[in-house]
Amino acid sequence: AGVFRRPPVLAPYQTGFDDGDPDRPFAKYALTQKLGQAQFVPGLSTAVAGYNGIYPGPTIRAEHGTRFEVRIRNALPSQGLLHSDAFNTVTHLHGSASLPQYDGYANDVTAPGNVKTYRYPNWQNARTLWYHDHNHHLTAQNVYSGLAGFYPLSDSYERAQLPQGEFDVPLMISDALFNADGSLGYNDRLRSSLFGDIIMVNGVPWPTMKVKPRIYRFRVLVASISRSYRPTLSTGDPVYIVATDSGMVPTVQPVASWRHSTAERYEILIDFRKYRVGQKISLNNLSNKNNVNFINTNKIMRFEVVADFGSNAGSISSIPTTLDDGGSVNPHQGGIATMSLTPAMAKIKRNLKVEKINGVWKINGTTWADVAASRFTKLFANPQPYDVEQWTITNASGGWFHPVHIHLIDAKIIGRNTNGGKPFAWENGPKDVFYVGENESITALMQFDTGPELGGRYMIHCHNLVHEDHDMMTQFAVGDYRV
Ligand code: C2O
Ligand code: CU
Repeated sequence: AGVFRRPPVLAPYQTGFDDGDPDRPFAKYALTQKLGQAQFVPGLSTAVAGYNGIYPGPTIRAEHGTRFEVRIRNALPSQGLLHSDAFNTVTHLHGSASLPQYDGYANDVTAPGNVKTYRYPNWQNARTLWYHDHNHHLTAQNVYSGLAGFYPLSDSYERAQLPQGEFDVPLMISDALFNADGSLGYNDRLRSSLFGDIIMVNGVPWPTMKVKPRIYRFRVLVASISRSYRPTLSTGDPVYIVATDSGMVPTVQPVASWRHSTAERYEILIDFRKYRVGQKISLNNLSNKNNVNFINTNKIMRFEVVADFGSNAGSISSIPTTLDDGGSVNPHQGGIATMSLTPAMAKIKRNLKVEKINGVWKINGTTWADVAASRFTKLFANPQPYDVEQWTITNASGGWFHPVHIHLIDAKIIGRNTNGGKPFAWENGPKDVFYVGENESITALMQFDTGPELGGRYMIHCHNLVHEDHDMMTQFAVGDYRV
C-alpha cells in the first residue's frame, strides 16, 4: 500500500493557430517510447517500456476544438520486454474519431528508431480517452510492459458541471504479476487471460489517497489485460455515475457497485463531505464471474479524509441530477447526438457473434489472421458516412466474458438479453466498449459519424488483450475506402 499519485501532465512543445486564425488553435506534443525503471514492489525495481519511460504514461489534456499533433518516437530496444519479436509499436487513441491512418491500425507499425506523428482532431464532446499500444498479436505484452496513458478531452459544458483541477482525478486500474526479482511476470493461461495478484492504481499497488471533505470526480479506467472489476465503497454509500466511455450521461445514476472491464471508462462522483476527518474509506472489488482472484484482489485503493485546507477551486457544491453535454457538438454536417439515436433511424440491423472455435477466439467466424490473409480487404460492415446502424453483439463462447470495442463510433445501448432487457444503470451513457458477459447479448445504436473526409478501415475486437491477440479482431470500413 503506497501513496496515491497522479500521472504527470505533458506540456506541448508548441502551440499556435492554423493560418493565424484564432478559431483554429493547435498544439503539438512529443512522446518517446522507451525503457524505464518503476518502483511497484517495495524494495525492488521493475523494467517497464512506457511512453517517456513511465507507467502510466504522461496525461495529455485536450481541449475541444484544438487540433493536436503527437509525435511519437519509438526508442525501444529491437526486441520486446516480454516477447522476442521486434518491439514495433502503433498507438491508438481510444475514444477518438481519428482518421484511419492515425487510428492505431494494428499492422501499421513503427519500428524501433523511427518516428510517427499522429493527428487528433478533438472535435468530439468531452470524455476520458486513453492512448495505448495496438501492435497486432502483441498488444497484450506491449500494454502490460507499460504502454498506456490518459487523454482527457474537456469542453465548456463539462467544465461548467463537473469537478475540475484538484477534484478531477484519473484512476488507471491494472493488475500484474511480479517475479521474485521484481520483473513483470507474464502468464496468459494458454492464450485465455492474464490475472495478476497485485492491483495497482496509476502504477501504485493499493494506494491511499488523502481527500478533503468535498465531492471528487474520478475518471476510472480499467487498463488491465483481462481482469474485470465490480468496484464498491466500504461504507455502502453509492457512487454517482456522471460519464461513460464517450462522455457525460444525461441522467446521473447512483449505484452501489458497477461492472467494469478493460478499456471501459466510468466517471464517478464520490461525496466525502459526510465522512469525518481521519476516516478511511476503501474502494473494494466484488469481482465478476470468470475472473481468477487472489488474496488481495478484492481491494483496489483507500481514501483517507483530511481537514479542508487551501483553495477549493474546481470543486462543486452538490451532486447534479442531470447533465447537458451540449448535444451534437460535432461540427460536421449530419451528426446526431449519440443519446438521441432511436431504432427508427437505423438503416440496417447486424449481428456480431463472439465465439471460441477449436480453441481460437473469433468474431463471426473471422480472425485477424483471416483479415490479413485477405490483404486487409475482408470487412464485417461497410456503412456510408453518417449512417446509423443497430448492432447486436452476442457472446456465444460459453464461460467467458468479452469487452467488445468498436473503433470510431460512440453508441447508445438500447437492450440486453438480461437485466429485464434494459442496459444496466451505469451503462446509460455513450459507450465504445460493451461488456458482453457469459451468455449475454447487447443491442446498441451507433452513427458512423466520420465527417466527409474520413472514409477508411477501423477495427472491432475484444479488449481482453489476450483474446484480441489470439485472434479476436475484425474490421469494418466507412464509405469508399482505398486499401
Ligand atoms: Cu483500446 Cu482497439 O483499442
Ligand atoms: Cu474476449
